Order: sequence, then C-alpha cells, then structure tokens
Amino acid sequence: MLPELFDLSGRHVCVLGGGGYLASAACRLLAECGAHVIVADLSMAAAEAVVSQIQDNGLLADAVPIDVADESVIAALFDRIAADFGSLDAVVNSTFQYQNVPFEQMSLDQWRDGMRINLDAAFLISREAGRVMKPVERGSIVHFSSMYGLVAPIPSLYKGMDVNPVHYGVAKAGVRQLVKYQAALMGRFGLRVNAIVPGPFPASRVCESDPTFVTRLAERTMLGRIACAEEIAGAVVYLVADASSFVTGTELVVDGGWTQW
Ligand SMILES: NC(=O)c1ccc[n+]([C@@H]2O[C@H](COP(=O)([O-])OP(=O)(O)OC[C@H]3O[C@@H](n4cnc5c(N)ncnc54)[C@H](O)[C@@H]3O)[C@@H](O)[C@H]2O)c1
Repeated sequence: MLPELFDLSGRHVCVLGGGGYLASAACRLLAECGAHVIVADLSMAAAEAVVSQIQDNGLLADAVPIDVADESVIAALFDRIAADFGSLDAVVNSTFQYQNVPFEQMSLDQWRDGMRINLDAAFLISREAGRVMKPVERGSIVHFSSMYGLVAPIPSLYKGMDVNPVHYGVAKAGVRQLVKYQAALMGRFGLRVNAIVPGPFPASRVCESDPTFVTRLAERTMLGRIACAEEIAGAVVYLVADASSFVTGTELVVDGGWTQW
C-alpha cells in the first residue's frame, strides 16, 4: 500500500517555475516517484538543467519555455500536454518574481507589477488547469504561498535592508484564498487544489551573500534553522500523489514553526 500512495507512474506533472531552487528539487522527487515531469520556466537554461539531471538518472522529463504572465501561453501549454501525453494530472506553480520597493515609495504601477506573477498568474494557472482537468474529473493543483501570506514580515529582521515588499505578502495571502475558492468549486469534479506555505529556505547565493540575515531568519523559527529546498519539496510530492487524496482546499504549512509563536 505505502509505495502505491506515492506512485506517480504514468502521471504527467507540469511544474511552472520548475527551474527554480525549490521547484528543481520537487521536479527531481516527482520524477523519482515515477512521474513524467514537464519543467516549464521563463529561463529555458534553468529548465533544461533540471531536465538533464532527471534524464541522467533514467527518469522522464521535458523542458518547456514559458512566461506565466502570458494568458494564452498557459492555456496552450496545458492543452498541449493533455493532447500529446494523454493527460495533465497535476500542475505545480512555483513561479515568483518581485522588485523590492519600500512601502511608502511604492507606486501603483509597482504594486500592480508585484501582483502580476505572484497572484494574477496563479489565478490564470488555476483557471486553465481546472479547465483541462474538469472534463476528465481528476487532477491536483498546487500553489506556493509563504509565511508572509500568513503573518507580516518583522521589520527588525531586515536590518539595513528593505523589508520584504507589501505586494508579495498580499499576493501570497490571495493565493491561500484562491485555492479554497477553486477547491470548493472543483471538488465534486475530482479536482484537488492546495497551497504549501513555506518558511525560509533561501538559496545558497543568499546564504553566502548575507549570512547574518540568514542567521536572523533561522533564529525566528522554532527549529532554529532555515530549510533546504528538499524539505519543502516532499510536501509537493504528497499533495500531487494519492497519499493526499482526501486533502483539498487547504494549506500545508512547512515553516519550521515560524508562524506558530
Ligand atoms: N525562498 C524562500 O525562502 C521562500 C519562502 C516562502 C515562500 N517561497 C515561495 O516558494 C516558491 C519558490 O521559491 P524559490 O525560492 O525556489 O524561487 P526561485 O526564484 O528559485 O524560482 C522561481 C522560478 O520562477 C521562474 N519564473 C519567474 N518568473 C516567471 C515567469 N514570468 N514565467 C515563468 N517562470 C518564471 C524563475 O525563472 C525561477 O526559476 C515561490 O512561490 C516563493 O514565493 C519562497
């Protein structure tokens, strides 16, 4: 029973932002569980690097260039996966992009720009994945929120630097509501929609460039450390696989306890 709960053989999983730090770990784990992983990213070089690692291990993956700000491109990608491979079984959205601007200086255009990838694209991805999955009555959609979608950034952690921008947390709070809304609509059609709420897992370039900031982040968690990407990626596999077949409309908090005190 246990291996079957996590067996993704024959499933086609599209990971948007799949070339990123967290998503590349998730793509590797999904492929290890048997999935064919479609790694879609703005950076084709990043997507191809992940695909090479997966294929070098004899597993299944393809790289696709995509800009998730482009509505028609998202729709076309999901249609193509369903047509070419026979099904779109899961979509994982790990894209993220922002420009940091202090709250009091942020223009309306900069605010809107922050929403474009972090919330508008999440909506488009959810809507289009749902459109393709609903007729076949099966599928899992996974988005990423953030601890900053649950609680405010603590200004004192950001000594000498700009605090995490307001549009980021607002967009990530919106993602939490997006999954509840869509899960309520789509549950009767066999679709599950969930969010993962990670705590801090800065990539190695951040850890190297500002170790004292990373220490302050680590001390804020109950576990006293930051996460590595693989520790969040396991939650992706769980929400894609049948192990979570009765889990929908929820948020899985994987934050080392950041939001619990
Ligand atoms: N890193 C953290 O500490 C942290 C904490 C909480 C939540 N998160 C969330 O986790 C997720 C993954 O974070 P990460 O640190 O691995 O990010 P990352 O920057 O390493 O990866 C994001 C990926 O999205 C791609 N991307 C950006 N804009 C795109 C677009 N328009 N179209 C297609 N692809 C695009 C990038 O090329 C990149 O590969 C994000 O949603 C982030 O908000 C991260």
